[in-house]
Amino acid sequence: MSTLKILTYPEKFLLQPTLPLENIDGNVQQMIDAMADTMYKAPGIGLASIQVGWDRSVLIYDISARDEKRGLHVLINPRIISSEGEVVSDNEGCLSVPDFRADVKRSERILVEGHDREGKPLHLEAEGLHAIVLQHEIDHLNGKLFIDRISSLKRELYKRRVRKALRENETAL
Ligand code: NI
Repeated sequence: MSTLKILTYPEKFLLQPTLPLENIDGNVQQMIDAMADTMYKAPGIGLASIQVGWDRSVLIYDISARDEKRGLHVLINPRIISSEGEVVSDNEGCLSVPDFRADVKRSERILVEGHDREGKPLHLEAEGLHAIVLQHEIDHLNGKLFIDRISSLKRELYKRRVRKALRENETAL
């Protein structure tokens, strides 16, 4: 089991859009396995490549309940083709935004195109938690965090809290 370091806000790398992954080779498979180990250990239900310092477009997720058998899904170069409806994603969180949760407006249903880890084309129709996870992770691949989708007041409160914590860490040294 090899786990990767998860970058957290305000790390600037998280804000850059990923590039398309062009070559699905053995290194990519190893990286996907390491991402899966990292996600399960965290634990989280989704993880995007950019969160572990990889700037190619790959996301993984597993929304099966904890006591069920694992169901890992891998999406390479995903794109939202269409979306409809609106839902509030209750108390959304992110491994890259620790100790913070907020309600986020998301599309209710989406259509996603991409490739699986073997490079086979995938078309997914998603709703509910499935649609929310995909939107959250695809946002990551586009350099976006869920705090970019909340009110500026809430976002400022969070940013101030992080700045304060970072200052306190400095003085503790
Ligand atoms: Ni996230």
